[in-house]
Amino acid sequence: MALYAAAAAVLAGVENRQGSIKALVYGSSFQNVKPLYALVCETQRYAAVLDAVIARAGLLRAEKKLRPHLARVLVYELLLGKGFRGAGGRWKPLLSRHQARLKAELARLKVRQGVSRNEDLLEVGSRPGPVSQVPRFVRVNTLKTCCGDAIDYFKRQGFSYQGQASSLEDLRALKGKHFLLDPLLPELLVFPAQTDLHEHPLYLAGHLILQDKASCLPATLLAPPPGSHVIDACAAPGNKTSHLAALLKNQGKIFAFDLDAKRLASMATLLARAGVSCCELAEIDFLTVSPTDQRYDRVQYILLDPSCSGSGMLSRPLEEQGSGTPSQERLRALAGFQQRALCHALSFPFLRRLVYSTCSLCQEENEDVVRDALQQNPGFRLAPVLPSWPHRGLSTFPGAEHCLRASPETTLTGGFFVAVFERAEVPSSASQAEALAPELAPGPAPKRKRRRQKATVQAAGAVVEATCGK
Ligand SMILES: C[S@@+](CC[C@H](N)C(=O)[O-])C[C@H]1O[C@@H](n2cnc3c(N)ncnc32)[C@H](O)[C@@H]1O
Repeated sequence: MALYAAAAAVLAGVENRQGSIKALVYGSSFQNVKPLYALVCETQRYAAVLDAVIARAGLLRAEKKLRPHLARVLVYELLLGKGFRGAGGRWKPLLSRHQARLKAELARLKVRQGVSRNEDLLEVGSRPGPVSQVPRFVRVNTLKTCCGDAIDYFKRQGFSYQGQASSLEDLRALKGKHFLLDPLLPELLVFPAQTDLHEHPLYLAGHLILQDKASCLPATLLAPPPGSHVIDACAAPGNKTSHLAALLKNQGKIFAFDLDAKRLASMATLLARAGVSCCELAEIDFLTVSPTDQRYDRVQYILLDPSCSGSGMLSRPLEEQGSGTPSQERLRALAGFQQRALCHALSFPFLRRLVYSTCSLCQEENEDVVRDALQQNPGFRLAPVLPSWPHRGLSTFPGAEHCLRASPETTLTGGFFVAVFERAEVPSSASQAEALAPELAPGPAPKRKRRRQKATVQAAGAVVEATCGK
């Protein structure tokens, strides 16, 4: 029997619990057991990676006669092993028809998982369930409460507060009813992974927002001061909008746009629950919003979190990504839109700072979009943000290290990408607009604030209803 067929037979035997690799190799009729043993062990080690690559490349669909175990062995040899040995003669022409696709899928897998070497892929794959280890992050909604009060509430409920974490390791070690304050982002509480707070009274009352840490980065990094005018270009369902409103302390204005009427309707509910009163919702294509419209004369901050492939979303575990990987065609279409939306946003004349984010791990939707936008908008540069953030943009262009990536393995969050653009020189009219900005009013008394909030949210809801009715 040829080496590859023998290796496939051993792998099948192991899977069918006929014995260990060693027992099956040494019990086989194959003459040269040493290379057989090594090949089977290596193929088995990379099984998850190989299966993902084979599935994405559609190898078994295209080659109906090729059995899965043999496919694994052959693809191991082709991509990770020594290349075909003499025994590969028969399979060479078959595999070479798929070689380019298989190699491309391996490269994409590495990009998605943010690694550069084959061995690193292995390490990622062999860690126990990274997705299930992502903690439950809870943003305290400072429009309705403060961190201290939220912490006290949990303590009264029998949770044990451990103070501010000093590293990701502290988050990884969380267990039982312990909770922490995030080491980096303010007002972010961290609970063990399986904590379910969907029925918690503070969540139901809008005092807490269940929001992944990575998704808190965009508003935190945009950091509009209270009183600013901000555009949230693709806003629904609105977690980042409510975060922006909290940073603004409801002072100033958020113009929140989205195309999707249903998502806007649930956004209006979410914003009302969160006590947001500084937001105007509009059902509109952001690409049709005129940057020179006088309404946006004071807009210096834009958050752009456009539709994306969602390849980093936690609901799509790494193990299943093979089935949910966006096709090249879909990626091209998404990246085209993202590119147009980003350049459109950068054309707002008084813009100072913009955050671009996606929950995708694909380079096409992230670094490539950012690189092209920088080339087309030389007046902007990337701001060097969060130097201690461990996972940076893929080094596909100079300065890409200023971008942030996130993943369950590296940051204990969902897969995410963020780039912060800042204008190299602030246009003089923007400084004028800033100088003309009215003095920030001191915070209104609680009772009055509640009444005003209600009225404004109703108004925001009315905008949605009016536009949804079209
Ligand atoms: C990733 S989601 C935004 C999530 C949101 N930022 C949040 O944190 O809740 C992308 C949103 O963009 C909207 N969208 C897609 N194309 C758009 C366009 N041309 N103009 C405005 N919104 C658009 C989609 O309807 C979707 O709700």
